[in-house]
Amino acid sequence: MTHSDANDQSPHAGKHISPKHSTHPLLSYLDPEHLGPWGIYLQQVDRVTPYLGHLAKWVETLKRPKRALIVDIPIELDNGTVAHFEGYRVQHNLSRGPGKGGVRFHQDVTLSEVMALSAWMSVKNAAVNVPYGGAKGGVRIDPRKYSQNELEKVARRYTSEIGLIIGPTKDIPAPDVNTNEKVMAWMMDTYSQNVGATATGVVTGKPIELGGSLGRREATGRGVFTVGVEAAKLIGLPIDGVRVAIQGFGNVGGTAGKLFAEAGAKVVAVQDHTGTVYRDGGLDVEALLAHVRETGGVSGFGKADVMADDEFWGVDCDILIPAALEGQVNKDTAPRIKAKMVIEGANGPTTPTADDILNDKGVLVLPDVIANAGGVTVSYFEWVQDFSSFFWTEDEINQRLVKIMKDAFNAVWQVAQQHKVSLRTATFIVACSRILQARELRGLYP
Ligand SMILES: NC(=O)c1ccc[n+]([C@@H]2O[C@H](COP(=O)([O-])OP(=O)(O)OC[C@H]3O[C@@H](n4cnc5c(N)ncnc54)[C@H](O)[C@@H]3O)[C@@H](O)[C@H]2O)c1
Repeated sequence: MTHSDANDQSPHAGKHISPKHSTHPLLSYLDPEHLGPWGIYLQQVDRVTPYLGHLAKWVETLKRPKRALIVDIPIELDNGTVAHFEGYRVQHNLSRGPGKGGVRFHQDVTLSEVMALSAWMSVKNAAVNVPYGGAKGGVRIDPRKYSQNELEKVARRYTSEIGLIIGPTKDIPAPDVNTNEKVMAWMMDTYSQNVGATATGVVTGKPIELGGSLGRREATGRGVFTVGVEAAKLIGLPIDGVRVAIQGFGNVGGTAGKLFAEAGAKVVAVQDHTGTVYRDGGLDVEALLAHVRETGGVSGFGKADVMADDEFWGVDCDILIPAALEGQVNKDTAPRIKAKMVIEGANGPTTPTADDILNDKGVLVLPDVIANAGGVTVSYFEWVQDFSSFFWTEDEINQRLVKIMKDAFNAVWQVAQQHKVSLRTATFIVACSRILQARELRGLYP
């Protein structure tokens, strides 16, 4: 359970990026010494620029968000005092359609982080070719310290404040870390009250009863599994008996683990915020999921050996799935990884230094911007269903999801082979070309 290492970035992640690679100075509202995740994103754009051909003319558009809104969220707490929270909504790029991206409640959320996450949403949406731009939101709050009543007030006031720029055809939030269906219901209701009409399409990831989609809850994990199986085929790795290790056993990691186990894989190690469990012959995934539902974490699971948290990274496995936090695969953990393939369920789990280490070791990395795009794909289905008020069956949803994920992954694989680049750079090539093509076709106004 390591944390993102601020030093685990090349110098490009810091103040050197702007003068060297950009035609404009670095954005004045960022600290050039501490660019955070936005610095990592800028490096990724720099890596892709040589492959953009004539579209490179527009690349600066990717290096600055179209719009960033910072809001104050005052609420009256249960004890009668007033607390203020900082909230953000960033729309990175809207050339291909309305903004789309989750809302995160976390005490450490920063503008730089939300900017980077919004940019990765632009890339992800373009990579799977859903008609969206990229956006993201966040509130600086530790939700564990507040009551449901207080969290409802935060969600509603935040929605009202960002109501200026969100909407079913403008920008559509969704759940992310520490937000869920309930928060989406509050957001949908608040926005609807403000505009005077029920607007189910303003958020996705809603409860089914309020226009949510079947299959949305499992969609990201299903996408992780789908691209994992496709990649395994391409490198000749049979899924039956393959050894899988997973960090994060929530929505994404839990679903991916279940699907891999059902396909015959052995899930040998699972780590979450409560600890690490291991069984050489494969864990009973259904029983572990039930244990997590009952107790809130993997710790204390009877049918497993306990493993020191730090040993997780060196576990003997073929597939490693980071599905928890950012920066977990870094300069300390990457050298110990024995897997042949890393599937990024989490957003931004691998630092650029670790990317290079894994590349040198011949580990295939399926990057977040394609591997965890299943969630936004079914969010897109939810939005389409809300517009037509006609709802699909779970089978239809899963079939459409699997087709989109397979087609998108195979297209990225071809580009990686063609240019002899990593899958991350290949995904950026596909996605950034689509974004900048739209930018060019629309032209500059005025
Ligand atoms: N849910 C989605 O549809 C979706 C879509 C795309 C990307 N993601 C990304 O996937 C990741 C996980 O999201 P989720 O929806 O599964 O969240 P979740 O809250 O359901 O699960 C998070 C898991 O991470 C574990 N975790 C937290 N801190 C940890 C630590 N320090 N060490 C080890 N494990 C830790 C938790 O115990 C939990 O098992 C996030 O990066 C999120 O942005 C989620």
